[in-house]
Amino acid sequence: MPFRRVRDPDRLQALIEAILLVEQDLELPEVLRNFVQRAVDLVGARYGALGLLDPGRTGLAEFVSVGMDAEVISVIGRLPEEKGILGLLIEDPRPIRLADVSEHEASVGFPPGHPLMRSFLGMPIVVRGETFGNLYLCDKEGGEEFTEVDEDMVSALALAAGLAIDKARLHGRMRELTLSEERERIARNLHDTVIQRLFAVGLALQSATRLLGRPEAQDRLQSSIDDLDETIRQIRTTIFAISRPRRVSDGGLRSEILDLTDEAAGRLGLDVHVDFDGTIDSSVNVETAEHLLVTLREAISNVVRHARASTVEVDVKVDDDSLVLRVIDDGVGIDPAVAVSGGRGLANLAERAKLLGGSFGVGRGPQGGTELTWRVKLLR
Ligand SMILES: Nc1ncnc2c1ncn2[C@@H]1O[C@H](COP(=O)(O)OP(=O)(O)OP(=O)(O)O)[C@@H](O)[C@H]1O
Ligand SMILES: [Mg+2]
Repeated sequence: MPFRRVRDPDRLQALIEAILLVEQDLELPEVLRNFVQRAVDLVGARYGALGLLDPGRTGLAEFVSVGMDAEVISVIGRLPEEKGILGLLIEDPRPIRLADVSEHEASVGFPPGHPLMRSFLGMPIVVRGETFGNLYLCDKEGGEEFTEVDEDMVSALALAAGLAIDKARLHGRMRELTLSEERERIARNLHDTVIQRLFAVGLALQSATRLLGRPEAQDRLQSSIDDLDETIRQIRTTIFAISRPRRVSDGGLRSEILDLTDEAAGRLGLDVHVDFDGTIDSSVNVETAEHLLVTLREAISNVVRHARASTVEVDVKVDDDSLVLRVIDDGVGIDPAVAVSGGRGLANLAERAKLLGGSFGVGRGPQGGTELTWRVKLLR
């Protein structure tokens, strides 16, 4: 262990306390901030920062700093550029300790407005051989250089920081999972109990109308029953909309699409026709497939909620370099003004298409009704 060389009991104690941060259950931003602060305190640096790498490990996705004024940060920007020494640490994750950062051959100088810094200690954060990011410390107090012992301490701290980051990320993922299970549970509950009950109430009311003598009373009750039917229909659509977007299983995209349209037909009483063209299963990667399923679910929800349609046609087509989904209904048609200013649904589909290098459009279908076209690029 590198920190065997740390002799000063006070510093050793401070180091151990800092390492014990791993124990706490904190959210990622707090984890980062705490570790930077401890690192700065441990080695007596004026400035400290922690940068987390993006998934491709070519740049920084997250950057937390201490010691810098908020005003200065607002001038120089929150994320530093991946050039110079910071870039070097990303490319070649090994500790760097310098008396004067500007004298290193990789140095590119500081951007305008950035405080000048001299002594520097950079330490990669590595977990199970994978580099997560780096700890940076600048300007040791008293104008001194960082020492070998400082480096040892920070390297031990970086180890702990890596574990804490790993843990915080894992917690985040688990929370997401629980959330989607929770949604599924609510959907099932709505379907199995709420809908069944409302249905029973509707039937009971229906038979009660006959017992009422006055026609006005019968009319009023009938209109309440109609409201109830409409409520049931809306709840069914909600169930359909919040059901978990499935993971694309081994069965492949084609069978997922058919499952989804069967569900729509069964639960929502739509007459759905599906048409495939091209090699759907082998050409579409999992990420794109999941975007497509979410898109189809929203399109069908919209048909049920807004179109008053009786049939829907779903076309999925794969050609050389693109995937096209068309959803055509025979309903009342869409008001083009509403389509742009409407809810989150269509905007979300447009964003997904853009993310995948494609396009999105919605308008009047060939026989009235609405035609939605969602086209994305296929990566090979
Ligand atoms: N198939 C359709 N037929 C008729 N009108 C539609 C159709 N799809 C969408 N619309 C209209 O476009 C509007 C915007 O749709 P969008 O999906 O963005 O929002 P939303 O469904 O109202 O709400 P949400 O945010 O829950 O999706 C809808 O409010 C509706 O008026
Ligand atoms: Mg919608």
